[in-house]
Amino acid sequence: MKRKLVFATNNRHKLDEVREIIKEDAEIVSLEAIHCHEEIPETADTLEGNALMKARYVREHYGMDCFADDTGLEVEALDNAPGVYSARYAGPGHDSEANMRKLLAELQGKGNRKARFRTVIALLLDGKEYTFEGIVNGSIIEEKRGDRGFGYDPVFVPEGYTETFAELGEEIKNKISHRAMAVQKLARFLSDLH
Ligand code: IMP
Repeated sequence: MKRKLVFATNNRHKLDEVREIIKEDAEIVSLEAIHCHEEIPETADTLEGNALMKARYVREHYGMDCFADDTGLEVEALDNAPGVYSARYAGPGHDSEANMRKLLAELQGKGNRKARFRTVIALLLDGKEYTFEGIVNGSIIEEKRGDRGFGYDPVFVPEGYTETFAELGEEIKNKISHRAMAVQKLARFLSDLH
């Protein structure tokens, strides 16, 4: 029988994406399916800390094996900010537009535009904890381009490309992204358990 793993996310899009990659090795169970409707705390100051915090929460409160992810944009010239604070860089209640405006303002006049997206997945399985990291290197351009994707996609150009994530679209992004890399590592790990 396939093992059941909760994916601690409320993002349906992520759930579908991960289910597709992992379908051979585990049955991915949503938070909704285990009747977890409360907000899971993510108050750590690192991506690893947040991913572990979310997965441990599900383990402790629902007694199920689980994994959780956390992602941040790390900009070299800004000492890896916004990092774990990427979602609320421009302050609580601000949207992606405000976050990107702040990022471009902070980088104004800076020669080093190197950045990377980093995803950490924490897996709690049979009483043990594992983490998987996915990184995509790239750079921050000076003005937004493209209208696909979400978050910082319009200002991020991945290494080896000239278009932003928001111009490249989902098909390419899902092959090369930070999240895809981390999920593939998780999938390989689960498949090697057989
Ligand atoms: P989360 O941990 O996946 O919720 O990501 C935290 C924040 O990082 C999001 O709110 C976005 O601002 C940013 N982010 C994560 N993944 C991406 C991406 O693929 N493209 C652009 N921004 C992203």
